[in-house]
Amino acid sequence: MLKMTSRNVTAFFYFSQEGEAWQKGVSYAEGQNLARYLMEAPANYMTPTRFAQIFEEKLEKLGGNVKVFTRSKQWIEEQQMGAFLSVAKGSDEPPVLLEIHYTGSPDPKDPPLVFVGKGVTFDSGGISIKPSSGMDAMRADMGGAATVSSAILTAATLKLPINLIGLAPLCENMPSGGANKPGDVVKAKNGKTIQVDNTDAEGRLLLADALCYAHNFNARAIVNAATLTGAMDVALGSAATGVFTNSSWLWTHLQEASAVTGDRVWRMPLFEHYSKQVTDSALADLNNVGKYSRSGGACTAAAFLKEFVTVPHWAHLDIAGVMSNKDEVPYLRKGMAGRPTRTLIEFVDRLSKDRNPT
Ligand code: BES
Ligand code: MG
Ligand code: ZN
Repeated sequence: MLKMTSRNVTAFFYFSQEGEAWQKGVSYAEGQNLARYLMEAPANYMTPTRFAQIFEEKLEKLGGNVKVFTRSKQWIEEQQMGAFLSVAKGSDEPPVLLEIHYTGSPDPKDPPLVFVGKGVTFDSGGISIKPSSGMDAMRADMGGAATVSSAILTAATLKLPINLIGLAPLCENMPSGGANKPGDVVKAKNGKTIQVDNTDAEGRLLLADALCYAHNFNARAIVNAATLTGAMDVALGSAATGVFTNSSWLWTHLQEASAVTGDRVWRMPLFEHYSKQVTDSALADLNNVGKYSRSGGACTAAAFLKEFVTVPHWAHLDIAGVMSNKDEVPYLRKGMAGRPTRTLIEFVDRLSKDRNPT
């Protein structure tokens, strides 16, 4: 048997630490790969129902401190999520709101970090239909749901000491006879009315209702991720996820997490300037597109979401620019990228070690 001299005890110690770091890296990578798989899968296979089923199966293996609720269309109606439902009604595929609870903190009553992810399993644009060229990429418009749900699955696998809730409103955006029409007015869960001038700005409608619901959980912070705007891709390309946040505390954690993983974030503005452009509607409280259409498109979308947030620690991650990879990121092949799943996991790890600022 090996005699434990002080030298080889030190070597063993370092080896086991390295082993742990390696294993952690593998878990993070598995999380991102799951998000890549979900995003890449064809939309006729990766429906809202299938997406929810996959997480149900994976999470129920983890045991008692993980709970999954696959909320039905009827439940969504009872919750009066009129904005979410208005998008879903353009499709024959039923909507689902996937709700995941992971209780990893020693105190089950610790306020949770709530993640919300846009889950449009196919975005045709609806009646404001998109050009046909490249439309197939819109099977990945559930990238927000995929990255946040995969991050929670990984956090639960790693048994991180934190309480997490994941909310993923899942549906298709299609142009049927039941679809939203430009100029329609819908009502969100919090009673705010929205004029839907462009049916292709559907992500913010789903998220509006999911963000309202997120306020029911005494959240320590709410973080949402969404492939929300083409304008985000115009602004930053695939260099970084755009982060719009009212909390410098959250920003610092996200930024430091991204420095560890290399999957970067970049802070974007939430000026009143943009809010004015979405609160100026002829028919309703809000308009789902900015007054000057394309100008500052990622920022007006973020300003729209902010209308549904009352908590002091909220961040919106626009991941449209990092949705797919050509050859910019050498360790990812061409295809859907699953970004920034690893940054989200690292962020959760950091939050599990920090208390909220007072
Ligand atoms: N899912 C798209 C945004 C998108 C575009 C993601 C390209 C990834 C790549 C979103 O629903 C959308 O269509 N947004 C519109 C908003 C506009 C109508 C105000 C857009 O970006 O054109
Ligand atoms: Mg759209
Ligand atoms: Zn979309």
